[in-house]
Amino acid sequence: MARKKISLIGGGQIGGVLAQLIALRKLADVVLFDIVEDMPQGKTLDIIEASRIDGFDVKLTGVNSYEGIKDSDIVIVTAGLPRKPGMSRDDLLVTNAKIMNSVAQGVKEFAPNAIAIIISNPLDAMVTLFQKVTGFPHNRVIGQAGVLDSSRFSSFIAWELGVSVKDVNAMVLGGHGDTMVPLVRYANVNGLPVMEQLEKKYNSAEKAKEVMDAMVKRTKDAGGEVVKLLKTGSAFYSPASAATAMAEAILGDQKRVLPSCVYLNGEYGVKGYFVGVPAVLGANGCERVLEVSLNEEEKSAFDKSVNAVVSLVADMERLGF
Ligand code: APR
Repeated sequence: MARKKISLIGGGQIGGVLAQLIALRKLADVVLFDIVEDMPQGKTLDIIEASRIDGFDVKLTGVNSYEGIKDSDIVIVTAGLPRKPGMSRDDLLVTNAKIMNSVAQGVKEFAPNAIAIIISNPLDAMVTLFQKVTGFPHNRVIGQAGVLDSSRFSSFIAWELGVSVKDVNAMVLGGHGDTMVPLVRYANVNGLPVMEQLEKKYNSAEKAKEVMDAMVKRTKDAGGEVVKLLKTGSAFYSPASAATAMAEAILGDQKRVLPSCVYLNGEYGVKGYFVGVPAVLGANGCERVLEVSLNEEEKSAFDKSVNAVVSLVADMERLGF
C-alpha cells in the first residue's frame, strides 16, 4: 500500500513544525509548499538530515508549485499572515482572504480529493472561504481551533489543580475568537468535575468561580498572550500539534471526538456556517457532529459566538470574497 501523503500549504512557522511532527510520527510523506523560493526546500532538507537520528523514513519534499501536491490525502493550510502584538485575528481578514482564495484554487485543481484542515486566521472565515472556492463537500473541510483552545484550557486547569494534564478533559466550543466558549460545567479530571475540585481546594464556591473565570479568560486570550511575548508572530508549536492530531485521526480512521470547526446543517440550531463543535473525525473527514446539551447561560454564550462568526463571514462577503 502506498504511503499516505500530507501537503502543507504555507511553509512558515506552523508549516515547518507540522512537517517535523508528521515525520517524527511517521504519519505520511510530506510536501511543504510555499510561494517563497527555496525556503520549503531548505526546511525539508534540514528535517530530512535529522532522519537518521530520529529514525524516520517518510519522504519530505519542498515545492513552489502546486503540481507537487497532487494525490494528497490531506492538505493542511497555514498560508497567510500571523498576528503582530495589538492585532486581533479579524484584523487579518483582507490579506488572508486574498491568500486563501489563491490557495483554494490551487488545491481544487491539484488535490481535488483531499481532506483539508485549515489553520489560517481568522479561522472561521478562512474555512468558509476555502469551502466556497473549492466546492469541496462540507465533510472534507475542517478548521483547527478547538483542539488547541481545549488544550490550552486543559493546561491551565492542570496547573491550577496540580494534576497531570493527561487526565484533564475540557472542551472549548464556538468561534476561534474572543467569544469562544470554554465548557466549564463539563470540564473534568478523569471524570471528576473540575468545579467540585476547585470548591474543595478553596473551600468556597465563590473563590472557585473566581479562579475558573480567570482560567476561562486566559483561555480566550491565550493566543494573544503568546503573540505579546513573541512580538514577531503568533503561536506555532501548539497549532501544529493540534492539526497533527486531527490528521492522525483522519488517516487512522480513529473516530476521535475532537472539537473542530465544521459545517453545521441544523445542529445546535445553526445552518450553513462553520462553527467549533465536537466532531467525530475519521477517514471521511468530519463524519458526525456530536450535540451536547447546553444550559441557558452556555447556549447564550454559544449563540453570541455564532453571531460573531456570522458577522465575520458577512464582512468577508462584503469585501467581495
Ligand atoms: N500561498 C502559499 N503560502 C503563502 C502564500 C500563498 N499565497 N502567502 C503567504 N504564504 C506563506 C508565507 O510565505 C509564509 O511562509 O505562508 C507562510 C505563513 O507563515 P508564517 O508567516 O510563519 O505564519 P504562521 O505562524 O505559520 O501562521 C500561519 O496560521 O495561526 C494562523 O494566524 C496564523 O494566519 C496565520 C497562519
